[in-house]
Amino acid sequence: MRTTLALATAACALAGSSLVAASSGTTITAAPSSTQIAKAVKRQAAGSQKPLTQYTYSYSAVPYQVLPAAEGRGPQSGYNICNATTSGPDSRCQTMIANNASDFCLWGSPTMSANGTIGDDEAAVVAYCTNDQHGARIIPAGAITGLQVMHTSAYIQWTGHINMSALNLQENDTGGELDPHGADLAGNPLGGLVYSNQLPGGNNQTEVQAVEWNNFIGSGVFCLKLCFDNTQNEPFYCQNKFDLLGCSYNMPAAYQDNVFLECDGDLQDPVGIYTGTNGQTTTWSQPESLAGTQSLPWTPRVPSSSNCKTYQSTELFPATALGYQSTSAPTATSAGSSGAKSGSNGGSSGPSAPAAGSSSSSNKTNNGDIVAASVSVSVLAVLIGSIVALA
Ligand SMILES: *[C@@H]1O[C@H](CO)[C@@H](O)[C@H](O)[C@H]1NC(C)=O
Ligand SMILES: *[C@@H]1O[C@H](CO)[C@@H](O)[C@H](O)[C@H]1NC(C)=O
Ligand SMILES: *[C@@H]1O[C@H](CO)[C@@H](O)[C@H](O)[C@H]1NC(C)=O
Ligand SMILES: *[C@@H]1O[C@H](CO)[C@@H](O)[C@H](O)[C@H]1NC(C)=O
Ligand SMILES: *[C@@H]1O[C@H](CO)[C@@H](O)[C@H](O)[C@H]1NC(C)=O
Ligand SMILES: *[C@@H]1O[C@H](CO)[C@@H](O)[C@H](O)[C@H]1NC(C)=O
Ligand SMILES: *[C@@H]1O[C@H](CO)[C@@H](O)[C@H](O)[C@H]1NC(C)=O
Repeated sequence: MRTTLALATAACALAGSSLVAASSGTTITAAPSSTQIAKAVKRQAAGSQKPLTQYTYSYSAVPYQVLPAAEGRGPQSGYNICNATTSGPDSRCQTMIANNASDFCLWGSPTMSANGTIGDDEAAVVAYCTNDQHGARIIPAGAITGLQVMHTSAYIQWTGHINMSALNLQENDTGGELDPHGADLAGNPLGGLVYSNQLPGGNNQTEVQAVEWNNFIGSGVFCLKLCFDNTQNEPFYCQNKFDLLGCSYNMPAAYQDNVFLECDGDLQDPVGIYTGTNGQTTTWSQPESLAGTQSLPWTPRVPSSSNCKTYQSTELFPATALGYQSTSAPTATSAGSSGAKSGSNGGSSGPSAPAAGSSSSSNKTNNGDIVAASVSVSVLAVLIGSIVALA
């Protein structure tokens, strides 16, 4: 994975796509080429570890660490068995659960304060969840200010807005892509696993592994997709090669703030394949760098949604349901507009900073920092404002 990222902020809905290279001249790590992948496979054949996507487990059989060996970027920084003991602000849980609008996780910084970028920490990111049931860190009530979950015939997708500090990331972090690949095929995070009880075969009850997934986070926007198919055959909706394009291109959706929805949805177009005004279908390949690029030749189509259930923020993320919680988090349970208001950033309705000094009911200390793996990626900030249609 390359951590350079471009993210659409739905707030800046521009007509047409435009790219702005916020910092030119930075170098970026290239997405894995086929040669790199071939080399990684060879290296892995020599060592004990396979590519991450070849490790599949039933949820009850997840090992303590998928990639414990000190090979390549390893060993894995955290662990995969996550339970009540590991839950809390210093959790290093690297098993993500994503079930529905009220019950899901995102990858965030392994640090205890927002002092680095997702690029610094990509190999060591840990799970931050909307509740304390998954042995992970907790996303405080109010931090997610807009959400749309889309159930499709090929994947489930979570898109929305979040206060980055809830993931111990800086607000100005333009972000990066996390996926189970990377140039060495060990994944970001290394050894990370993803499960959902909404995947085929799970009957809405059993946590089933999503082998292919991706998650972008940056500039206050997140998107997470779990694909049903793990063959990588086209149409492959969990591509990991468009890491410079961010959420708007990888997971086109409405990205409405202050709105919380769970819907059925149509399939998106495979990223990079578009039909021009001349009716011709063209496949776009991401160049090494987008520096200087002013626009991409297409604007992603936002798939339509149906059967949407609308929620209030406080219904999905009640402060009282969490194991540890900010004293300033909203506790209002009244109906009406209170939920919508809780979606607005800042003020008393904002999320707690899980940073030093914040008082939490569990009084966990802020000394559990994990040193980020030795990944050094300069970030080219590319902002794409391209959301013109609402699903
Ligand atoms: C809880 O998770 C920790 C860390 O992975 C593990 O060492 C421990 O065995 C787990 N406990 C149970 C009861 O599964
Ligand atoms: C999400 O699933 C959990 C069980 O996994 C359930 O308790 C909760 O009510 C569901 N939330 C929504 C919004 O459907
Ligand atoms: C963030 O702070 C922790 C100590 O709290 C340190 O170990 C880590 O290196 C810091 N990260 C960055 C990117 O400065
Ligand atoms: C982001 O903000 C932090 C302070 O919160 C600052 O130290 C850092 O230089 C900023 N980074 C960029 C790329 O502006
Ligand atoms: C699972 O939930 C979906 C709605 O999210 C529903 O359409 C489907 O029938 C359920 N499947 C089972 C086996 O209950
Ligand atoms: C994000 O949360 C932090 C900590 O609660 C808060 O200081 C900051 O103002 C919030 N940012 C926004 C944009 O609301
Ligand atoms: C947390 O610390 C405060 C101040 O020291 C104390 O009053 C409170 O009882 C502690 N809470 C817990 C859950 O230990």
